[in-house]
Amino acid sequence: MNPLNHVAIIMDGNGRWGLKHKTSRNEGHKAGLNTVEKIIKESIKQKINYLTLYAFSTENWNRPKKEINYLFNLLENFLINKIEDLHKKDIKLNIIGVKNFSKKLNKLLSLSEKKTLKNSTLQINLALNYGSKFEILNSIKKMNKNNDKVNEKNFEKYLQTKNIPNPEFLIRTGNTKRLSNFLLWQLAYAEIFFVKKLWPDFNEKDFIRIIKKFKKIKRNFGNI
Ligand code: FPP
Repeated sequence: MNPLNHVAIIMDGNGRWGLKHKTSRNEGHKAGLNTVEKIIKESIKQKINYLTLYAFSTENWNRPKKEINYLFNLLENFLINKIEDLHKKDIKLNIIGVKNFSKKLNKLLSLSEKKTLKNSTLQINLALNYGSKFEILNSIKKMNKNNDKVNEKNFEKYLQTKNIPNPEFLIRTGNTKRLSNFLLWQLAYAEIFFVKKLWPDFNEKDFIRIIKKFKKIKRNFGNI
């Protein structure tokens, strides 16, 4: 059975869910947040150590301002209302991406990271304003600047995921099969599960089914 340490998720389909079941894309984001909470709880039950969630990409800035504002408000309220609970559950919150949001959100994110820094049951890496190509270029620049020898080990020490083991698998909901500039380096050998359901419809049972499937896969890493 394959050991499981780190799961990465592209939470796709909120907008479509909102338009299908409610009156707006934003309603889909709100429903998507409920799924986030369910999957966090189940990750702890499954003894997963790292959960990386793609919440906002560098490309998502192209969306209408109203939707962007709604998403960040949702995140702000989530942190204000839930950080104590996450802390009690021994969850560490870590942001990957560039924190260039409003002063209030930047501060809230930094405080939440600081408060939960020493927790160790589950580390949530929330990818916000994250883009993998930017991260890779940035690492190369830093490696050059420090005159480091170019090798995998030196390159990885400048990634935003330094000290985090690579994900064993990636889930993408929403019936779309692409990586969308997410963890391109880190997912080199990950198993990938594409799910038809939209993110707000994804639930613990779906998650457990994928974990069981993953554990049985024969992973070769280029070998035979
Ligand atoms: C992709 O669906 C989802 C996002 C860009 C945002 C993800 C946000 C959440 C799951 C809720 C908020 C989470 C936190 C932690 C506050 P989409 O909007 O691209 O869906 P579509 O493909 O149907 O348009």
